[in-house]
Amino acid sequence: MLTSTCLSRDCPQSAGRNPVKYAVLGDIHANLEALTAVLEDARAAGCTHHACVGDIVGYNANPKECLETIREIGIPCVKGNHDEYSSANDVPQNLNPRAKAAILWTRQKLTEADKEWLRDLRYTRLVACFSIVHATLDSPRGWGYVLDKFSAAASFTYQTTSVCFFGHTHVPRVFMRDSVVRSCTYSKFKIEPGCKYFVNVGSVGEPRDGNPLAAYVIYDISQGSIELRRVPFDVDRTEAKLREAGLPGRAPQIALPRRNV
Ligand SMILES: [Fe+2]
Repeated sequence: MLTSTCLSRDCPQSAGRNPVKYAVLGDIHANLEALTAVLEDARAAGCTHHACVGDIVGYNANPKECLETIREIGIPCVKGNHDEYSSANDVPQNLNPRAKAAILWTRQKLTEADKEWLRDLRYTRLVACFSIVHATLDSPRGWGYVLDKFSAAASFTYQTTSVCFFGHTHVPRVFMRDSVVRSCTYSKFKIEPGCKYFVNVGSVGEPRDGNPLAAYVIYDISQGSIELRRVPFDVDRTEAKLREAGLPGRAPQIALPRRNV
């Protein structure tokens, strides 16, 4: 567990009296119940801003509603692999059957304007003083998985901000680089000057770390702290919507992602 104690000094928004708290969320995967619960938790926790690391759609039954929620709030967002596949015309050969079924179904539920919005998303983005990416910084369109220090080291090579948030694995974890690259699970930590952080925020709609609760992060820029939040949501309703839509059921909780999920 990470327990460093120093504050960030490279973020202009750490000055001033008004707290600046970002709710950083991703891998929503069309789960409206989980997204609604997370946004309510963020509001109650005093978050002033949001950012999204991609995969708004895919797997669950409310892609359009989740997309509209993100757009209505005006949340800065990067493109995930499911956002890309659901707004394209072709389907990658090696997708798992559950992902493929959801992508084909999602395409039917989105308008051309929705797909255009998804297609226009960038792969990496600077938000305030931090950056966001869905998968990796060294190959943002390649959809590789950062699961160990070696793949994190490749991303750090391209990281220009002290903090970058990412998703894709659906497993919350922080990678840190000072003289070496280290990695650990986390619940809350303070960022330290001179150290870079590549932070996986977990998944709102499809957690895969053995904890069924929705995950997201609160980055308190004023305090220089990053906190992982876990939020209950109405799983029964999410699953009922899947059955109604004729979509495959939710995957059992798994610790590590498979390829092309
Ligand atoms: Fe995802």
